[in-house]
Amino acid sequence: MSYPFQITSYGQYKEAYKKSVEQPEQFWSDIAEQFLWRKKWDKVLEWDFKKPDVKWFINGKLNITENCLDRHLDTRGQVPALIWEPNGKEEPHKVITYKELHFKVNQFAQVLKNNGVKKGDRVCLYMGMVPELPIAMLACARIGAIHSVIFGGFSAQSISDRLQDAQAEYIITGDGAYRGGKDIPLKNTIDDALVTCPFVKRVIVYVRTQSPISMIGHRDVWWTDEIKKVEAQGNPLVDAEEMDAEDPLFILYTSGSTGKPKGVVHSSAGYMVYTTYSFVNVFQYQPGDVHFCTADIGWITGHTYIVYSVLCAGGTSLMYEGLPAWPDAGRMWDIVDKHKVNILYTAPTAIRSLMAYGLAPLEGKDLSSLKVLGTVGEPINEEAWHWYDEHIGKKRCPIVDTWWQTETGATMISNLAGVTPSKPSYATLPLPGIQPVLVDEQGKEITGNDVSGNLCIRFPWPSIIRTTYGDHERCRLNYFATYDNMYFTGDGCYRDEQGFYRITGRVDDVLNVSGHRIGTAEVENAINMHTGVLESAVVGYPHDLKGQGIYAYVIMDAMPDNKQLAQADITQTVARIIGPIARPDKIQFVTGLPKTRSGKIMRRILRKIAEGELANLGDTSTLLDPGVVNEIKEGRV
Ligand code: WTA
Repeated sequence: MSYPFQITSYGQYKEAYKKSVEQPEQFWSDIAEQFLWRKKWDKVLEWDFKKPDVKWFINGKLNITENCLDRHLDTRGQVPALIWEPNGKEEPHKVITYKELHFKVNQFAQVLKNNGVKKGDRVCLYMGMVPELPIAMLACARIGAIHSVIFGGFSAQSISDRLQDAQAEYIITGDGAYRGGKDIPLKNTIDDALVTCPFVKRVIVYVRTQSPISMIGHRDVWWTDEIKKVEAQGNPLVDAEEMDAEDPLFILYTSGSTGKPKGVVHSSAGYMVYTTYSFVNVFQYQPGDVHFCTADIGWITGHTYIVYSVLCAGGTSLMYEGLPAWPDAGRMWDIVDKHKVNILYTAPTAIRSLMAYGLAPLEGKDLSSLKVLGTVGEPINEEAWHWYDEHIGKKRCPIVDTWWQTETGATMISNLAGVTPSKPSYATLPLPGIQPVLVDEQGKEITGNDVSGNLCIRFPWPSIIRTTYGDHERCRLNYFATYDNMYFTGDGCYRDEQGFYRITGRVDDVLNVSGHRIGTAEVENAINMHTGVLESAVVGYPHDLKGQGIYAYVIMDAMPDNKQLAQADITQTVARIIGPIARPDKIQFVTGLPKTRSGKIMRRILRKIAEGELANLGDTSTLLDPGVVNEIKEGRV
């Protein structure tokens, strides 16, 4: 397997970039030629950001799983597609070759068909990090069903909201999931979610933890029983459904600045082409390399860089069930050593938490297989960057700082490992095909270098979000209405003297906690559901490990007698409504919030107080009740 579109020098990058801007259609058409199509496209691109309406590879027909699996069978059938490292150190790992993965995906695709799943149906996957999760995703894609993976840390309420939004009638889950020392009760949570989702027809349960669970007749079935039925049918090969280039591949919910998560929809062909292109170029993947992305498949990073791009490239993807520092702080380095990992892709929050254990956990671990390191999900601070470089990469592995989003499908701005220059805490340069623009609040483009602004993208790329499920207007308002004829990322950005980009963080009301996106409005909604709460305001503050922590200001109908208990109760409510990932780190009870005369909460002031910047709060004269600011300052937790 070779990659004709792999860029191998800085000069080549500049050439490719130039061509991608001057002749985008020719550029992407040449790359798309490298994939397996049932029928080639008639036209490369049609677009209108006003609606928005973006279509790539028009009338092209394909199935992404033929690109991920079938295409490799002759030449790479015996190559490991997935290496699975279990949570517990004692349990043996699994290696699944392309041939085996092809077989398992076919088997499970037949299970889905036997259970009535058809093209276009939405299937919710709420599972732990077991090989059966990518198998189920690919099986959905094989028959044209749209998967919607929900991260295992979301609560029953969050699942129910997503099931209703997607009208998902099928669920695949586990009895439980291992994650570090915990056993996550997946099926119990699904059962709670389904109380409000009577439209769900079938729940397929994969047994991992042997936990006692309830199984409702005519609705819940066991994964292994269903596989046995397919074996009895003689394991028929499932014809991959012929999909239109623009048919949706999956929905993935993500937080925005409103209270309700959005179902980001990705297409089949554009997602395949751009994610694979980015994978091969950013990581400079070479056939045979072991690629270890530590993300959970419940997030976009796992979808793209554990499953689809790696498999489309015929690569070997290592997936790990557990946590980086469990059962001991050296676990991650043991895995790198054991599986001779070549590419390690993780989040700054993981680097910072491993850094906190010092260097002892690295002793005796052979990390010499590593060639490329990557980070994603949040801005990386220079200290963490240098630690990663010195102690993990031993100063011989390029670090790629990859900036992208659920909505972009794959990496947009990043250095290409060892090919284009890197700079600590800078994502650096856009990939070919990506045209970043900085704009001011009025939407005027900020040209030149050494400037900051809001980051927008001016031209479509193949894996751009197509819609938000069931509500296209929301997609338009969120991403395409703020600035004329541009996709707005929600991030702030600095462009240095050399033209390198540095992402400075969100400019909307979205927090980035341990690399996870959480909308402040969602957390506020959850807090407001707590009994006695009249109003709340949530902001982020710098947190040593998590990047950002969640700080909540809460007004109760009466000041609680036992504040600690009240804080713990509110935390519990948030965990129940959204999930443990959204639990506030700090809760301060206040009697009022700083508001303008028109009733708008001045978050800028709340943010400064949470950050501990008490001296310079800016102009507070427009506040309805300036006195409240002093009270909040004094009561800071
Ligand atoms: C942030 C994760 C700085 C950013 C792939 C973005 C980053 C949000 C970086 C998307 C990076 C992601 N440097 N910030 N390299 N990568 N972000 O949708 O604020 O979970 O908008 O996608 O994470 O988060 P999401």
